Amino acid sequence: MPRIQSRLAMAATAALIALPAAASPPSAAPTPPMGWNSWNHFAAKVDDATVRAQADAMAANGMRDAGYRYINIDDTWEGERDAQGVIHANSKFPDMKALADYVHAKGLKLGIYSSPGPKTCAGYEGSYGHEAQDAKTYAAWGIDYLKYDLCSLGDQMKATGSLDKAQEIELTAYRKMDAALKATGRPIVYSLCQYGVAQVWRWGGSVGGNLWRTTGDITDRFSRMTQIGFGQAGLSKYAKPGNWNDPDMLEVGNGGMTPIEYRTHMSLWALLAAPLLAGNDLSKMTPDTLAILTNREVIAIDQDPAGHQGDRVHAEGPLEVWAKPLSGGAKAVGLFNLSDQPSYVEVSYAAVGFKTPVKTRDVWAAKDLGAKTSYRALVPGHGVVLLRLGA
Ligand code: GLA
Repeated sequence: MPRIQSRLAMAATAALIALPAAASPPSAAPTPPMGWNSWNHFAAKVDDATVRAQADAMAANGMRDAGYRYINIDDTWEGERDAQGVIHANSKFPDMKALADYVHAKGLKLGIYSSPGPKTCAGYEGSYGHEAQDAKTYAAWGIDYLKYDLCSLGDQMKATGSLDKAQEIELTAYRKMDAALKATGRPIVYSLCQYGVAQVWRWGGSVGGNLWRTTGDITDRFSRMTQIGFGQAGLSKYAKPGNWNDPDMLEVGNGGMTPIEYRTHMSLWALLAAPLLAGNDLSKMTPDTLAILTNREVIAIDQDPAGHQGDRVHAEGPLEVWAKPLSGGAKAVGLFNLSDQPSYVEVSYAAVGFKTPVKTRDVWAAKDLGAKTSYRALVPGHGVVLLRLGA
């Protein structure tokens, strides 16, 4: 080939290589969403004043600065549809747009809740048959997050008497709302809630979900929290930036667990790259609760930009070791003691991929422990020692 032609060919190839990949909009959830949700503490008692008080607290108490953003209204806000089918909030929420403006003015975002079925789990109006209309209403209000809870669609699925037909109904319903949200042009985090059945982690992302609940509901008890949290073993490969497994909202500060148990809860959720949605009353928190929710090093583990979920490395009866790969080759490691008596828990760093000594930091103690090849800690009953290894 004459030289000039080969140069032209090379330039053309270079131009092709330089072409940007097909532009897809940035994900609304590049890291696990952080915020607050009304359900765990307020359930049906949530109202406009409560939501404003949570936004005030989050903006003032350091949570916003620590990365918390979403103020999410769960079930029981829904009122009637008007003659045109447009959904209105009930009397607890006199002006949803004004509420969104208030939350936005605090540098925060507002989330809402609905169901693909005709009724929500608490028996309020769902979005069935009104998906596009509801998505438009949410966008007009200034909503930034939707939790879409299966609830009564489950009855229609059961009535088919066929697993495959039921699955088709579910996928179609979740896709329909995804398309409706996208059509609004407003970035809205899409949170699927169907309690972790039918291996939702395998297909939640393909129907547009940014996150999907992997379990039934959490309660404010150590036994339920650990059943859910440690039950996430094996799911790490399904999490990535934009798509997260969701083991349900936090119970930290709700009073049913000890501070040691709440640190275990927070550490495990961080290792799982789980959404950090506080579920307590932010306007009435002890300093201990706030310190657990805003620990920067724990949050950094959860929010690590590489977006890897941690997984179980080792279990020996009630003693478990979990590890989460972090960007830059570091690892977060949790040494858990699920028994109610203190116990030593040990990790050989070879088991988490380190062949040479690495810098070791005890995260909750905020203490550097030097370079090591293994670590043995005395862990209190129901407690954890959370380590950061490497950079
Ligand atoms: C289901 C969900 C909960 C909550 C309630 C509201 O149980 O799993 O998280 O949203 O519905 O009714």
